[in-house]
Formats: sequence, structure tokens, C-alpha cells
Amino acid sequence: MFCSVLVLSFQQFSLVVPRLLLKAPTQGELNCSHLHGDFTFGSTCAFSCQEGFVLMGQESRVCTATGTWTGDTPHCEAKACPMLSAPEKGELNCSHLHGDFTFGSTCAFSCQTGFALVGSDSLGCTAMGTWTGDSPHCEAVACPVLRAPAQGELNCSHLNGDFTFGSTCAFSCQEGFVLTGQESRECTATGTWTGDATRCEAKTCPVLRAPAQGEMNCSHLHGDFTFGSTCAFSCQKGFALVELQSLECTAMGTWTGDTPHCEAITCPVLRAPAQGELNCSHLHGDFTFGSTCAFSCQKGFVLMGPQSRECTATGTWTGDPTHCRAISCPELSPPSRGQLSCSHVHGNFTYNSTCAFSCQEGFVRMGAELLHCQATGNWSRAAPVCAEDGAFLKQVLAYSSGSALALAGVVLSGGLIALLAKRLSDREEKRKLLKPTSDLGAPGTFTNTAYDANL
Ligand SMILES: *[C@@H]1O[C@H](CO)[C@@H](O)[C@H](O)[C@H]1NC(C)=O
Ligand SMILES: *[C@@H]1O[C@H](CO)[C@@H](O)[C@H](O)[C@H]1NC(C)=O
Ligand SMILES: *[C@@H]1O[C@H](CO)[C@@H](O)[C@H](O)[C@H]1NC(C)=O
Ligand SMILES: *[C@@H]1O[C@H](CO)[C@@H](O)[C@H](O)[C@H]1NC(C)=O
Ligand SMILES: *[C@@H]1O[C@H](CO)[C@@H](O)[C@H](O)[C@H]1NC(C)=O
Ligand SMILES: *[C@@H]1O[C@H](CO)[C@@H](O)[C@H](O)[C@H]1NC(C)=O
Ligand SMILES: *[C@@H]1O[C@H](CO)[C@@H](O)[C@H](O)[C@H]1NC(C)=O
Ligand SMILES: *[C@@H]1O[C@H](CO)[C@@H](O)[C@H](O)[C@H]1NC(C)=O
Repeated sequence: MFCSVLVLSFQQFSLVVPRLLLKAPTQGELNCSHLHGDFTFGSTCAFSCQEGFVLMGQESRVCTATGTWTGDTPHCEAKACPMLSAPEKGELNCSHLHGDFTFGSTCAFSCQTGFALVGSDSLGCTAMGTWTGDSPHCEAVACPVLRAPAQGELNCSHLNGDFTFGSTCAFSCQEGFVLTGQESRECTATGTWTGDATRCEAKTCPVLRAPAQGEMNCSHLHGDFTFGSTCAFSCQKGFALVELQSLECTAMGTWTGDTPHCEAITCPVLRAPAQGELNCSHLHGDFTFGSTCAFSCQKGFVLMGPQSRECTATGTWTGDPTHCRAISCPELSPPSRGQLSCSHVHGNFTYNSTCAFSCQEGFVRMGAELLHCQATGNWSRAAPVCAEDGAFLKQVLAYSSGSALALAGVVLSGGLIALLAKRLSDREEKRKLLKPTSDLGAPGTFTNTAYDANL
């Protein structure tokens, strides 16, 4: 480049011929000092740049004797800032005024959905060649930290950071519990979780009721009639449990067994006493707690022991065993001069005992031969006595009518009758003869056939 050396030689053209003037660089300034005249030999021009720009090239140029400027034309370049790059998961939008990432450049930062900018959202390149701040970064939007539900577990996979956008948490419950709510939740771009809170609820078992005549006592660990609940059963007095005493709700939602029931405690089966009857009323079952049995005896017997017995809560009968005892008649003894022969059906001198009387030779029985013990406890007749023959003869005569004897066509002397009575006294026919009257309370007769046979 030439400076106006020519000015000296062609002074007249100085105003006409444009001199090789130096221009200030863009964004810069020029400060020339002219020794001999503007832009003439010896002129020195100093270059400087505005703030934010650096001079590239000579700082000053001197117009030489040959009419040229020393050096090259310098220029001002905007100060460079460190290059910026988009943050991870984010974007960068820069506008450059003077050149990429130089003084005057501004860069705006933004993040992808689900990510939030941490730091200033825009930076400017200062005149010092530094950015107005540190580069921001994108952080995944955080969701509230999730915890495992009670009795459950949490299995999270984190894409961008713990409990942040993209995190997915799967829930599971311990054995015996069921999940209510979402099985998995995801952290959304807005910092909230999808779905509602998840809970683990204990599996429910069918509701149990106390058995009839019994009680139930349940303890619930996680909720009424749910996994872990245990129910104990008991029965009222007089009843016993059949099967298990307690049940537990399992992890499957089923009970460890069937509901037990209460059964009345049993007493030994009672039988009617011999010669008696039994009349039982059963409240809860045959011969069980609450059963009452009444006893009665047949005619001729009396009840010994309680009239009724009850089955108690301990499975035993109240009172002692009952039996029927034959009613006793007064004990008979043989008459003097006579004998007694008894047959006892139910015991010595009791109901239905039969006693036969007989008299020694020379004596006659006066009264019934056979006595019967009756249900009233009395003998059927008064006991007979054995009397001497004479007495018997008088009796016979007293009770025999004259006509009856005449009919028989027999005339008996006193001695004959005595003989007859003696012969008959120990013979079976005697009873036959006396049969029509059977005792001395009524008149009787002797048949003559019997009489003839004995002569
Ligand atoms: C130009 O330079 C001279 C001498 O170096 C100085 O005195 C003057 O202030 C400068 N002028 C400007 C405008 O920079
Ligand atoms: C960058 O920013 C400018 C000005 O704000 C805007 O017009 C342009 O759309 C943006 N570019 C992108 C890719 O965001
Ligand atoms: C969590 O889930 C992953 C993927 O489904 C599986 O591989 C891992 O075993 C699980 N961890 C637990 C403790 O369940
Ligand atoms: C139920 O069982 C518990 C524990 O065994 C006991 O403390 C409580 O008294 C029982 N309740 C009844 C009404 O039996
Ligand atoms: C048994 O007893 C009941 C009640 O006391 C009575 O109604 C019933 O007639 C009795 N049965 C017999 C066979 O005695
Ligand atoms: C019946 O009488 C006999 C003979 O006297 C006697 O040995 C027996 O013990 C009596 N029986 C009863 C049940 O009294
Ligand atoms: C008692 O004797 C009568 C008459 O012989 C008879 O019918 C009855 O069955 C007897 N009773 C008993 C309990 O022996
Ligand atoms: C039977 O005996 C009882 C006493 O044991 C007496 O009171 C009653 O009169 C007697 N009955 C007869 C018919 O003899």
C-alpha cells in the first residue's frame, strides 16, 4: 500500500489525487500522527480495536520514504469464548453477532421434555472472552421418592437418576397379600407418578361365625378375617368342640380347617332297670348334656334310687343307679305243728312269692293253704294255723249242712269221721274236697266218691 509520498513532488495534485489513506478496521480505531502532513512520509498510524475485539496484525503502520505503509492492514476480531456444546438431554441455540462463539454471541439452553435446566438458561460471550456464567446442564425431572408399601416390595429401574423422569417402579407384595392399585408406576415428565398409590392388602378369608352353643375369639393381624388372623373356638359348658380348637387364615386366603362345631357332651347310655321303665327327654342329642331320664317300676316293684337322673356337663349322670326292688310282704314263718314251703320269684317274701302251708299228722290246717304276696305288700290271705283233729271235726260239722250229708246217703259215726279226717289230712285229695270253699269262711261238702275211695 502506498502512502502519499507523492504529495511532496506533486503538491498541486495533493487535493486531487486521493491519497492512500488508512482506514480504521471495522470494530477498531485509527490514531494517526502526521509528522509532515496527513498520511505522508513519517505518518504513523496506530490501530486499536473496540472492547471485545482483538487486533490481528500490526498495531501500527508507518508511511515510509517509498510511499508505502509498513506491514499489512490489521483487522479487529471479536474475542473468542470457549466453544459451547449442547448439554446432555438438551439443546443449544446460539446467535452469533461477530462469529461463532465470540464476543457478542448469546446462547440459549433448553432441555428435552422430562428434563429441567439447572443454571442460567442463556449465556453471553463477554468482551473478556468469557461466558457470563457456567454452562447449565439438564437434569431429569424428579418425582417424589417412592417407598415400598407395607408388606410389599419395590423394584425400581432408573433411566436418568433415582426417582426421576423415566424411572419405573414395580410393586410386589409379600405372600398372603394382594396388590391394590397399579402394579407399576412411572415417573412422568411433569414430576408425578402415573396411577395411584399402591398398597398391599392381606388376603381375606371367609368371615367366620361362632358355632352354635360356642364362642369364637379372633385376633386379627392385618385386618378382619385376613391373612394372619387366628380364631380360637370354645364351647359353652356341657359342650365340647369337634375338630380343631383354632383356625388360621393362610396366605391362600383359606382357613386351615373347617369351622368346628360344639357337640353336647355325652353320658353313658342308660337302660331301663329290670322290671322298670325309662322315659328320657333329650335336649341336645341322645344321652347327652341336658338329657333327663325318669324311671318307673312295674307293678309290684318300688324304685330304689333317684326318680330321675340328668346328664351333667362332665358327662356323668346325677345320682346313683336306679333299680326296681320287688315289694316285700311280711316274712312268714311255719305255723306251729306245721310246715311252710315258699317259692320266691323276686326275692324272699316279695311280690309274687307263693307260700304253701301244711300241717303235721293229726293236725288240720285251718285257713288258706296257699298265700300269695301281692303288689300291695300284703299276703293274699291270712296265714292258716294247724289245729288238732277234734277241732277240725267240729269245724267240719259246723260248716256241713245236714241235707248235704243226707244227700250223700252216708251216716257217719263220730269215730268214722275222725278216721276219715285223719286219712285225708296228708293227702292231696284233701284240697279237692275242700276246694269249693277253700277256707272255712264258707260252707262246703264232701263228695261221696272221694269218701268211698278212701274207705
Ligand atoms: C492518539 O495518540 C496520541 C499520542 O499517542 C494521544 O496523545 C491521543 O490521545 C490519541 N488519541 C486518541 C483519540 O486515542
Ligand atoms: C433459536 O432461537 C431463535 C431466536 O430466539 C429462534 O427463532 C429459533 O427458532 C431457535 N431455534 C431453535 C432450533 O430453537
Ligand atoms: C427387579 O426387576 C428386574 C427387571 O424386571 C429383575 O431382573 C430383578 O430381578 C428384580 N429384582 C428384584 C429384587 O425383584
Ligand atoms: C381372646 O383371646 C385373647 C388372647 O388369647 C385373650 O386375651 C382374651 O381375653 C380373649 N377374649 C375373650 C372374650 O375370650
Ligand atoms: C315321658 O315323659 C313325658 C314328659 O314327662 C310324658 O309326656 C310322656 O308321656 C312320657 N312317656 C312315657 C312313655 O311315659
Ligand atoms: C333269703 O333267705 C335265705 C334263707 O334264709 C337267705 O340265705 C337269703 O340271704 C335271703 N335272701 C335275701 C335277698 O334276703
Ligand atoms: C306275678 O304273678 C302274676 C300272676 O301269676 C303274673 O301274671 C305276673 O307276670 C307276675 N309278675 C312278676 C313281675 O313276676
Ligand atoms: C295292706 O297292708 C297295708 C299296710 O302294709 C294296710 O294298711 C292295708 O290295709 C292292707 N290291705 C289289705 C287289703 O289288707
